[in-house]
Amino acid sequence: MCGIFGYVGDESAGPIVYRGLETLEYRGYDSAGVALRSGGSDELTIEKRAGEVAALSVPTVPDAISAIGHTRWSTHGAPTDENAHPHTGCDDRLAIVHNGIVENYEAAKADLDEHTFTSETDTEVVAHLLERELDSLEESGPDSPPRDGSPGRPDGGTASREGESADAPDSSDVAWRVRRALESVVDRLDGSYAIAAIHERDDCIVATRNESPLVVGHGSNAAFLASDVPALVEHTREVTYLDDGDVAVLTPDSVSIYRDGRRVEPSISTVEWDADAAQKGGYDHYMRKEIHEQPTALRQALGSRVDVDTGTASLDVDFPQGYLESVEEVQFLACGTSAYAGRYAATLFESLADVRATSVTASEYAFTGGRDPWRTLAVAVTQSGETADTLSALREARGAGARTLGVTNTLGSSVTREADDALFIRAGPEIGVAATKTFASQVSTLALLAIAVGRERGTLTAATAREHLEDLTALPGAIQQVLDREEQIRAVATTFADSDAFFFVGRSYGYPVALEGALKLKEISYDHAEGFPAGELKHGPLALVTDETPVLAVLTDGAGRRESLNNVAEVQARGAPTIGVTTAGVDAGSLDVAFEVPDAGVFSPLVANVYFQLFAYHVANEKGRSIDKPRNLAKSVTVE
Ligand code: M6R
Repeated sequence: MCGIFGYVGDESAGPIVYRGLETLEYRGYDSAGVALRSGGSDELTIEKRAGEVAALSVPTVPDAISAIGHTRWSTHGAPTDENAHPHTGCDDRLAIVHNGIVENYEAAKADLDEHTFTSETDTEVVAHLLERELDSLEESGPDSPPRDGSPGRPDGGTASREGESADAPDSSDVAWRVRRALESVVDRLDGSYAIAAIHERDDCIVATRNESPLVVGHGSNAAFLASDVPALVEHTREVTYLDDGDVAVLTPDSVSIYRDGRRVEPSISTVEWDADAAQKGGYDHYMRKEIHEQPTALRQALGSRVDVDTGTASLDVDFPQGYLESVEEVQFLACGTSAYAGRYAATLFESLADVRATSVTASEYAFTGGRDPWRTLAVAVTQSGETADTLSALREARGAGARTLGVTNTLGSSVTREADDALFIRAGPEIGVAATKTFASQVSTLALLAIAVGRERGTLTAATAREHLEDLTALPGAIQQVLDREEQIRAVATTFADSDAFFFVGRSYGYPVALEGALKLKEISYDHAEGFPAGELKHGPLALVTDETPVLAVLTDGAGRRESLNNVAEVQARGAPTIGVTTAGVDAGSLDVAFEVPDAGVFSPLVANVYFQLFAYHVANEKGRSIDKPRNLAKSVTVE
């Protein structure tokens, strides 16, 4: 992931954008760069280099009052000076910064054979596409936007989009052209992006987003743009959260938002955060940062491994010919959050690959029996790749003759050396002791494995595989929708922060998420929290339920909603406050608080889990807990 910051106003832009980048550095520190417009000479100055923001000196172009900047977390191309943003086309007329992954950039690049590229990034392709679009807009007629109230061009041309507001001329000819070029180019992009562009001939920033965050800040004689609010609050608390597809045009004295080509009133929210707290390294904690990294982490986990059209999941593991067909049991060995990912995966394997699958707590594995080593695949799931209990279970399985697979986030870790094969979840570094993004990446990667095994064994049709792959590839966008509701979740968490205990319930795929939700909460808030299969409450735990014990329920698709709603009614009858996560558009009874997720099939509970993560985070934060380093715990547990 990357950070974007933009400023246009009546002050010197360089130091303001530099400061914004420092605040956003938690989003990536592979490289940093800025593009500033000099009003005197009508030209852009671009400074960028590999490394942290500190490697870049504070840019000083005295007459520059507009600039965009970027901190990079590399996806396409190594962290080099050349791959650093901003990027331009063949000339330096226009520069852009980008956060996200443009999935079809290679195809687009192939169509730009007259252009010369200087980087390996997907972003540079977008810069060239914009340049070509600007060329054609400039060639096709007078360079003026509609100013006379007419929807079309002043020359009577037809470049205006149908439906464009007749009474809302763009701030300048240049803003009009850049906006139109950007609208046209992003129509052809697949993937996620937040893009900001600056042109040498005008003090304006034009920006848009799809599944990557972008927030506009409204200042006094100034407008700001940032990937996240913490970078804005030292300047303004009045912000507009852009929606997917919105195009924003920022000038020193105006912010215009266009939706489907029509200008709309910006919806302005007031940020309540204290400016000092928000400055603490961008995000206040690694955990929150990592929760927000999930869309990117999932894109990386899934990216090149998925071919939705053919219903194929390709994983970089070479099992011996015919091995997967002969497997009779898959055992997931893991601890903590990784064990819950294994439990989710076990249900996926049974359902998608029709193979017996179990999830075993690694520290208990040595005490279990009944396995047939010749027909068992033992899968050690471990973020760190170093967890002693998991490694010990792996050795036990291997010693008994089972084939072993390590599923991990850590290249070169012990599990990759000890298992027969290794599969990487590609989540990027996770520093917060409470595992968050790695849970989503583990489940998604294991889902790909389940699909691959199901296809190999002939138990999963291509059509059904396609449906699951479509749901998986929609996860980043679905999770982003939850992340965009963080303020709502924070308010609910604050309301319940003083409760005596919390119960999490769910069925099927909702059950491991209930367990994980409870683990997150207890781990960082130190509150009593338990997860149960929803149907189990009445067999004992119901005795603990009172009007002081909120019950959080997974009520999405894939979580046995109909049956679980009966269990929710049972706790409501005992006075318990209920917080449910439901699938959008589905009746979920009379919950005290209802959160929604888009329908993601059997992966809907994985999206629901993001509500639980943010809930736990904000309860713990309300209590002032040491969120990134909870008492008595460590990130990697290397003792049995
Ligand atoms: O590195 P691993 O995935 O093997 O770690 C396993 C557990 O120690 C870990 O998931 C732990 O439960 C986390 N602190 C949970 O947030």
